Amino acid sequence: MRFPTFVFTEATETQRHGERLCGSVSLWRNRHMTGIQIVRATWRDAWTLSRLDRKCFQPIDAYDWLTYLGLCLWPSVVALKAASGGEIIGFVASDRRRRHGHAIIVTLSVDPAWRRRGLGERLMHECEARIDLPRVRLQVRKSNTPAIHLYLKLGYTVLGALPRYYGDSEDGYLMEKARG
Ligand SMILES: CC(C)(COP(=O)(O)OP(=O)(O)OC[C@H]1O[C@@H](n2cnc3c(N)ncnc32)[C@H](O)[C@@H]1OP(=O)(O)O)[C@@H](O)C(=O)NCCC(=O)NCCS
Repeated sequence: MRFPTFVFTEATETQRHGERLCGSVSLWRNRHMTGIQIVRATWRDAWTLSRLDRKCFQPIDAYDWLTYLGLCLWPSVVALKAASGGEIIGFVASDRRRRHGHAIIVTLSVDPAWRRRGLGERLMHECEARIDLPRVRLQVRKSNTPAIHLYLKLGYTVLGALPRYYGDSEDGYLMEKARG
């Protein structure tokens, strides 16, 4: 996740097809979170999503609004936003790479004001539920303890290290989850 280059790094080697499966609405009422909606993000959300991105990631990892526009429009991408009272408070996107038999979690973010209430976990569950491939993969900075704990809790395991993967040369982990 958080590729040093544009999200569609593997575009040339990936046959992109398949329908956008997301679109259903879910309401989650748990852990002090009532009325949170998780729905498909659209191109209209791109600017707001880029502002959420700035709250959640350091500049070196930032995606601009054009990247979010691409994520919301690209057919192989599942892009879901969490909204409360009209405000976007979380986002997850995955790219389905059928030829490789897996999907990649491209980005996951929860507004700092809404963290530690289970929203990141919920976004991941909702995204995974819309992935029709046997495996899900992601990359994470070695220093990103909250995210690593979240992925381990969700059943991801470390496939290997990614030396100097990020723009500032920090190492990453490649993690994977086999879907039952
Ligand atoms: C990672 C992130 C999405 C987690 O969102 P969140 O809504 O706070 O996570 P949740 O409340 O659903 O937490 C689920 C689990 O994740 C782990 N976790 C989350 N935050 C944690 C923290 N600060 N420290 C340790 N573990 C943490 C815990 O295992 C937690 O389960 P628990 O509550 O039973 O202990 C959020 O911190 C974030 O947006 N970070 C900045 C962006 C980012 O790094 N994205 C991931 C890029 S790879």
